[in-house]
Amino acid sequence: MSMDVHHLAGRPVIIGGGIAGLMTALHLAPEPVLLLSRSPLGADASSTWAQGGLAASLGGDDDPELHLADTLAAGDGLCNRDMASLILNAAPGAIERLAGFGVRFDRMPDGTLRLGLEAAHSRRRIVHADGDGSGREVMRALVAAVRSTPTIEVVEGNEARRLAVDDGRIAGVLASSPTGPVFFATGRIILATGGIGGLFLDSTNPLGSCGQGLTLAARAGATLADLEFIQFHPTALDGSERPMTLISEAVRGEGATLVDETGRRFLDGVQGAELAPRDVLARAVWNHLANGHRVFLDVWERPGPAFARQFPTIASACSKAGIDPAHDLIPVRPAQHYHMGGVAVDGLGRTSVAGLWACGEVASTGLHGANRLASNSLTEAVVCARWVAESVAGTPPRRTKQAIASDCPPLDPAAVRPLLSRALGVVRDGEGLVAAARALLPLAERNGAASDPAAVGLMIAVAASRRRESRGAHYRMDFPYHATVARRSEITLEAALAAARELEPVLEGVP
Ligand code: SIN
Repeated sequence: MSMDVHHLAGRPVIIGGGIAGLMTALHLAPEPVLLLSRSPLGADASSTWAQGGLAASLGGDDDPELHLADTLAAGDGLCNRDMASLILNAAPGAIERLAGFGVRFDRMPDGTLRLGLEAAHSRRRIVHADGDGSGREVMRALVAAVRSTPTIEVVEGNEARRLAVDDGRIAGVLASSPTGPVFFATGRIILATGGIGGLFLDSTNPLGSCGQGLTLAARAGATLADLEFIQFHPTALDGSERPMTLISEAVRGEGATLVDETGRRFLDGVQGAELAPRDVLARAVWNHLANGHRVFLDVWERPGPAFARQFPTIASACSKAGIDPAHDLIPVRPAQHYHMGGVAVDGLGRTSVAGLWACGEVASTGLHGANRLASNSLTEAVVCARWVAESVAGTPPRRTKQAIASDCPPLDPAAVRPLLSRALGVVRDGEGLVAAARALLPLAERNGAASDPAAVGLMIAVAASRRRESRGAHYRMDFPYHATVARRSEITLEAALAAARELEPVLEGVP
């Protein structure tokens, strides 16, 4: 098949059209940039689905130090404190910038921002837009701003499949388009591809979020960090729909309680109860389900009659599922929701490969540690997009050489989903992780539709098997305690493949 080659005359390429990608493009203006998106802008981005908003210390009783303390506590010893402090101090300014791009945040009658509460936050500091439609409203405003910025060229319907590296530096990106393979020659690429929910059977993310950015970076030789830390949201609507509908933590923030089929509040022994950190609550719900119970959210008393007005998206999803929250309990279960791990980046979003940056969920800045504090991720994407854009703008374009031609079959994660769901869920053990790594290895080594998703799954399985402790969202039944020293983890694709090929020596200690 012939390949179109586009020389971009030094323009950088942003891969991904969620909040991180759009904000990076807007911050780069007036520098010309090309934004590559596999779907029409906003259509398939998990940003659009975000119900929770953006966390920022804006209340009179709040400050960035308190926000930092909550973030570090939720992160269970693994946050990069300096990075977290920088990001959280910049959070209020990020809200202002979004408002400047036309985002209509929810406000009090006096015009000040309405601040919501979510789990593990010691203060009301979540800024919402359109109730539980925050992501949709932010995306509406940013897509409009991008479309009206003449220096941003948007190319939709193109899925990035491989990065070209020449002499250790980025040289371009190969994408599949409806008319065949296309190569964009550039020395500067920003990954903003989102997360990995599409690799799980139960997830609140769009099905197309299959960790493409992780594969792109890993196949280009980049280092990835903290991949074993995957966040499961405790309250996804337990129905037949996939992806699952999120029942926002803000609902519990407004007083909803968790009960079982007998009507009993079963979180008695859990510190913080409904507002405990997400990893703690996801495990409590998971264990209660594993013990044969069902779990429900009770919104009758609180938020009560205000529920449908405050949470219109959730109310409409419940209604579609035949549930009337005014009279029925809402059935919930944990579902994959967010990836704390990602491509390792420094404070400017630079990866270990020259000419490659990462921003948003695909990146691992160290803010989230072992367990992300609710609503810190959109904030991180907006804050870091600015720093990434400044770094890209300050890196001179360079002439790139030859295009790569590569045969990339269409992506299909179907074979990978059951493997990851079984081994890398809320509760893990060494035996399951080894079994997953064994099953993923041949898929990752083959050039088939499952090989890119399997490569991501394999890196996660190896990272999880190496972490022989329980911390944050990574809970191992065979190692239920914290290790004495908290260490972030790093991995490359090459190292994961080598480890999986020699399972016994590398994964030693596994029963
Ligand atoms: C939620 O609304 O519960 C999710 C917020 C988030 O994931 O940050």
